[in-house]
Amino acid sequence: MIKKLALFLFFLVFSGYLFAQNPNIEIKKEKEVQNVHDIKDVKDAKNVKDEKKTFIDNLLSKMTLQEKAGQLRLISVGGDLTLDKVLDQIEAGEIGGIFNTVVEPDLFRMQERALKSPNKIPLFFGFDIIHGHRTVFPINLGIASTWDRGAIAKAAEVSAEEATSDGLNITWAPMVDITRDPRWGRVSEGFGEDPYLTSEAGRIFVQKMQKQSLADKKSLVTAVKHFALYGAVEGGREYNSTDMSERKMFQEYLVPYKAAIDAGSRAVMVSLVSVNGIPATANHWLLTEVLRNQWHFDGVVVSDHGAIRELINHGVASDPKDAVRVAIKAGIDMSMNDEYFLQFLPELVKEGAITEDEVNQACRRILELKYDMGLFSDPNRNLDPKLDIDTMFADNRLHREEARDVARRSIVLLKNENEILPLAKNKKIAVVGPLADSKRDILGSWAGAGRANLAVTPLEGIKSAVKNTKSVNYAFGANLSDDANLYRFLNLYGETAKFDNRPADKMIAEAVKIAQKSDVIIAFVGEAEGMAHESSSRTDLSLPASQKRLLKALKATGKPLVIALMNGRPLTLSEEYAQADAMLETWFLGTEGGNAIADVLFGDYNPSGKLPMSFPDNVGQIPVYYSHLNTGRPRGTENMGKYTTSYFDSPNEPLFPFGFGLSYTNFAMDFSLSSTEMNKEGEIVVTVNVENIGKKEGMQTVQLYLQDVTASVSRPVKELIGFENITLKPQSKGEVKFVIKYDMLKFWNDKMQYVAEPGKFNVFIGSDSTTQDKKTFTLLDK
Ligand code: BGC
Repeated sequence: MIKKLALFLFFLVFSGYLFAQNPNIEIKKEKEVQNVHDIKDVKDAKNVKDEKKTFIDNLLSKMTLQEKAGQLRLISVGGDLTLDKVLDQIEAGEIGGIFNTVVEPDLFRMQERALKSPNKIPLFFGFDIIHGHRTVFPINLGIASTWDRGAIAKAAEVSAEEATSDGLNITWAPMVDITRDPRWGRVSEGFGEDPYLTSEAGRIFVQKMQKQSLADKKSLVTAVKHFALYGAVEGGREYNSTDMSERKMFQEYLVPYKAAIDAGSRAVMVSLVSVNGIPATANHWLLTEVLRNQWHFDGVVVSDHGAIRELINHGVASDPKDAVRVAIKAGIDMSMNDEYFLQFLPELVKEGAITEDEVNQACRRILELKYDMGLFSDPNRNLDPKLDIDTMFADNRLHREEARDVARRSIVLLKNENEILPLAKNKKIAVVGPLADSKRDILGSWAGAGRANLAVTPLEGIKSAVKNTKSVNYAFGANLSDDANLYRFLNLYGETAKFDNRPADKMIAEAVKIAQKSDVIIAFVGEAEGMAHESSSRTDLSLPASQKRLLKALKATGKPLVIALMNGRPLTLSEEYAQADAMLETWFLGTEGGNAIADVLFGDYNPSGKLPMSFPDNVGQIPVYYSHLNTGRPRGTENMGKYTTSYFDSPNEPLFPFGFGLSYTNFAMDFSLSSTEMNKEGEIVVTVNVENIGKKEGMQTVQLYLQDVTASVSRPVKELIGFENITLKPQSKGEVKFVIKYDMLKFWNDKMQYVAEPGKFNVFIGSDSTTQDKKTFTLLDK
């Protein structure tokens, strides 16, 4: 009751704030501004299409060239471009969409001004909703670790629900760049190294965010990014170039973008990097020949932040005007935060360097998107003056429960010697480390609308799980790093990475003291969230020296040591792996992270996560990924160690392979194929028997890999083509089935045709990518 009253009062005060900001807005008036364009409610699909075309033809015929160029501009408020300036430009018809504002009163004012522009064209509002909005979910590498389609769907659904409640219509997600180089900081934003797993995650994000119809008020349009190959930058260095054979592109790296587009993503964001020598923003082959002509994408292509002007730096445009010409000609529809479109597009048309039709085409796509979003008939559809306060302020209990569930499914158990985990709740626990109680870090990168003050840290989660807070002792233990430059870097944009000025030895001594009094130590080490972000490439992937010293001292106490990693990329961890009695990868788990970690530590949830990216043994191995080609001299065949593919100073294998993750129980698996032969119309059913041979209920992800043994081109040693989860009680059995169809055997052959070639195929079943458990079938030539 008191809570309800407080909410009501808060609503009154907040609405007062709204109206104070927007003297022209009244709830009644909202209806009046709706349907300014008198859109008819047409049901029949063909008529809808005709209506839309007539409407947009008519609108375009009334628009000046200047206004059309305005529609192609996506602008964010900031720097010299103050809100007032933006409002004036909106009213002049010079802006088509706004991004990076999540303050509804401001969005309201912007839309009001758009409806006063010459043709009353509403704006759309975008934001980066990468892994949650107000309620923050695990970073995407974590979400991918669930290998659970239901969990991925939940993260996407809740994000869209909260974002649309906040007035947003479009997001720059999902990020489906394949990532095989953990030196690149943005691996944290993607779903890992594998085309199939990433495609599944991308597809689910698109379907759950956009929903069946964009007209659905809760539909959030997706812009799949970064098209293309951003994740393959040379040396993992941010914004660097990529160069790759077309076969590898089509076979692996382009697959997830295509999957997201096939799932209906209505927008695409273009990558900042050059692809085979031509910047993606200027790449006609990529944006027009592949995306439009081959894939038939008819949505909106948005450039990334500042990408048009960067074409001059790339050396493919001589000046700003030239950059605009090059971008439009390549296939960009909408520019993100570039002033040049408005400045130069009309001039370029007048000079005949581009045609008005080219501008019309881009403008039409944006108007179509707005039409399908329902903005012409209801411009304020997501700007609800009766705000859902719970949602807006992220204390939605249901969403938090969902976030907690996804978070615990994202945790990967990497080691558990002598079954030290799960812990009994009555143990004396030392919680140590620079990340044990950091609210900001646990949210991870790209959590702009998230509220750090609502986040649950590991320390808080552990304390609330054990109830008896006296049995939990905490020490900071060490700074994330001793490197002052790192802190300068982290704080460049106003972040506040915690730095403790006490001498390192003193902090370690304090941690050791509480460790000695405890039954077990849990050390939270890894990276600050800002170390795994855009523009956060690293060459050294080991833990910083300050944290290594702390772990060494803790180990020396002889107490059992649980290392809980918090980081946004695979790190090199062989030393820590040897030290740890148990090791958990917890990524950056979001708002409910601390509770999720406690669920796993105390066995309220039996860990089920699997790695979506290989963890290298050392940086020199990078790129290290499971689906590599065989060589003519595979390791371990002849002359073991010499004259076979290898390093003389390092293993070939990663420390932790793709797909790897332990459980508090054990599973046994065997499988059979329905046939040893298959023809074009046929299929092979793979039946997997799974048995829980341990003592706890648990979930296993059964992974299906395929190898095309002989083909016209070399094929990977193994490729993931399916996965399914099964939950089993101790000592019980279950069955998982997969169906292998002809289309799943296709690949880009020596003539770059997408075909299946007759011959032998190996089928592997296992709990990670190293499985050697295989059966063979033959694809017949008929
Ligand atoms: C990033 C994009 C992001 C955009 C808008 C750029 O710097 O590369 O991923 O969507 O900013 O915030």
